[in-house]
This record gives sequence, structure tokens and C-alpha cells, in this order.
Amino acid sequence: MMMKVGYLWISIIAASLALTANGGATDYTAMYVFGDSLLDAGNNKYFIDSIAKADFLPYGIDFSGGPTGRLCNGKILVDFIAEMVGLPLLPSYADVIAKGENILFGVNYASAGAGILRDTGYLFGRVIPFEEQINNLRKTVDELRGQLHENEVSKYLANALVFVDIGTNDYLNNYLLPTYYPSSHMYNLEQFADLLISLYTKHILEIQGLGLRKFLILEASPIGCLPILIHNMKCSATLNQVVAMFNTRLKSVVHDFKSNYPGSAFTYVPSSQLFQSLFDNAEAYGFKVKDKACCGGSAGSKGTKPVNTVPCLNRNEYLFWDFAHPTEAGNRILAALIHNATSF
Ligand SMILES: *[C@@H]1O[C@H](CO)[C@@H](O)[C@H](O)[C@H]1NC(C)=O
Repeated sequence: MMMKVGYLWISIIAASLALTANGGATDYTAMYVFGDSLLDAGNNKYFIDSIAKADFLPYGIDFSGGPTGRLCNGKILVDFIAEMVGLPLLPSYADVIAKGENILFGVNYASAGAGILRDTGYLFGRVIPFEEQINNLRKTVDELRGQLHENEVSKYLANALVFVDIGTNDYLNNYLLPTYYPSSHMYNLEQFADLLISLYTKHILEIQGLGLRKFLILEASPIGCLPILIHNMKCSATLNQVVAMFNTRLKSVVHDFKSNYPGSAFTYVPSSQLFQSLFDNAEAYGFKVKDKACCGGSAGSKGTKPVNTVPCLNRNEYLFWDFAHPTEAGNRILAALIHNATSF
């Protein structure tokens, strides 16, 4: 298993203010997004030396305005989630427009290739690890203090939604690449999951320390279901079990958060299970192809470059857009499944 994954470069690499852009009421004042390529809406594109970015066609082919950095043909998961809670599309932290009133509905800090560990994804050149994403949130909060009254800020933050989906790359672009990363030589899988969870816990509490109170915490993705690892229409159970070690611990940590911090709302999202069920029932959801990506993609794909620069035409019938990321159609269903499972 290690050999098989070892040579792959996979990027998994995502009050009065409670009014939407179109004037309707929202459930949350704002949304702050932390994660990897499933949620990155354009942070990495500003790094000249990063290869984990997607600011070129065919990425964004179905997105109004074209390529943005989203690793998808159109909308990504957080775009649908924002829509569901009545918020507009969020600016990426690195966007030049991400200041002033443009950040009042939230900010996306996610970075393709990033993980919980600082060195995760370093082969991509430059990514923004979880810790640095939180440092960026700190700067946003400082800026909000300059824009709102002090007593408004705490109320505003307490009613904002925090959306976190990170950890997949700590496996795909760290532990499972033993030639480049020391982690698998230093820890067994149990110890590694413990290490990730202790850092994750610390980081969630840092976000909470800044005044945020409502959390949606997603499981790491089922890496065995990536098109390059699927065999005979089945996900690799072995690889999914590796990530499950992290997810089991995450679930119990979120459970502990709930009892230790009664003033906050922590919701555990079984996103890995939901994706697995989407995969297993793909036909019922209208997908004709689930074992191949719309843009191609096979073992040996480098960085985020799609194999075929001309994507498939029937993009709504493919579950996967490129070798690691769902299509807009896939993301839409996943968002609905998450909403149904958690009613956040
Ligand atoms: C979510 O729940 C609604 C109401 O039960 C249902 O109609 C819909 O099909 C569900 N969505 C998905 C994607 O399963």
C-alpha cells in the first residue's frame, strides 16, 4: 500500500449584519472557512511558487467569471453551504478585495495542499497550514474591531459559523509519501492520528478563543475513493481505514468539546461516510461515471494539472472533476447530504 501511494503526487489538496446581499435574513452573521483544496476558493493562486493552484482553464469552466482558483469546474462545497445559510460567496483571504465591508459576511482561509502539520504539502511549493490560516483569521478579527463597535464584535463573532475540513493532506501529502516526509518513520498510524488530533484540538480552541462559537467540523475525506485509487468500482478500504483512525478520534474530541464548552455549538459532520454513501449510490443521484475524472487523471498525475485540458462535456454526470476533486454536481449533492445529516 505504501509503495502504491508513495509515488503519487495527489493534491487534496476547502445582528444588523445578519442580512444577505439581497436583504433576506440569514442564520449566521458570517462564515469562516478553514481547509484544503476541497475548500480553497483562490488563496494559493497568489503564490508564484505554488503548483497547488487552479486559476486556469478548464478549472472554473462552469463558474460565472471563469477560473478563480477553485479546484472544480464550478462551485465548491462551501459555496453551496454559504448559499444554504443565506450568505453570499465568500472572498478568499488573499484576495485584494478582501477588506472593508467585503469581509463582513466572512472569509475563506483554505489552501490547496495544506494540512494540520506545518510541513504537509511542502512539495507543492507553498501552501497555508492550519496554524497560519488561524493567524490570518486573527488579522481579520483585528480588522473587524476597526469596523464595528466593540460590543458588536463579540456578538457578531458568536453568531458566525466556522467551517473546518482539514487533515486529508496530512495523509496524502505527508504520511503516505515516506520518501519525502519523515512522519511514517517516526510514528505508527495510531500515534500519527493522535498527533494530528492534539494539534487539531489546540487549533479549534484557538479559534474559539478569538470569540467564535459555532463550529461545523468535517471528517477527513475517504482517500480510498479517489478515482486513481478505485478498483472495480470500489473504494480502497485499506486507505479509507487509515483516515478512519483520524475520524474516530475527531468524533470523540468533538463530543468532549460539547460537554466542556456548553456556551459553544460544535457539530460533527460525518462527511466521509456521507461521501462514501454518495459514491455507493452515485447512479441514484444521477451520476453515470464515478470511477474516472471528467478531466482524466491517473497514477502519476503531477500537481493539480488535469491530464486532459479539454474536459468531458457531460460534467453533471461525473462525480469527479479531476483526479482528486468532485465536480460542481458532486459538491451540490454532498452539501445537501451534509445539510440533511446535521441540519446546521
Ligand atoms: C434531503 O432531505 C430531503 C427531505 O427529506 C429530501 O427530499 C432530499 O432528497 C434529501 N437530499 C439528499 C441529497 O438526499
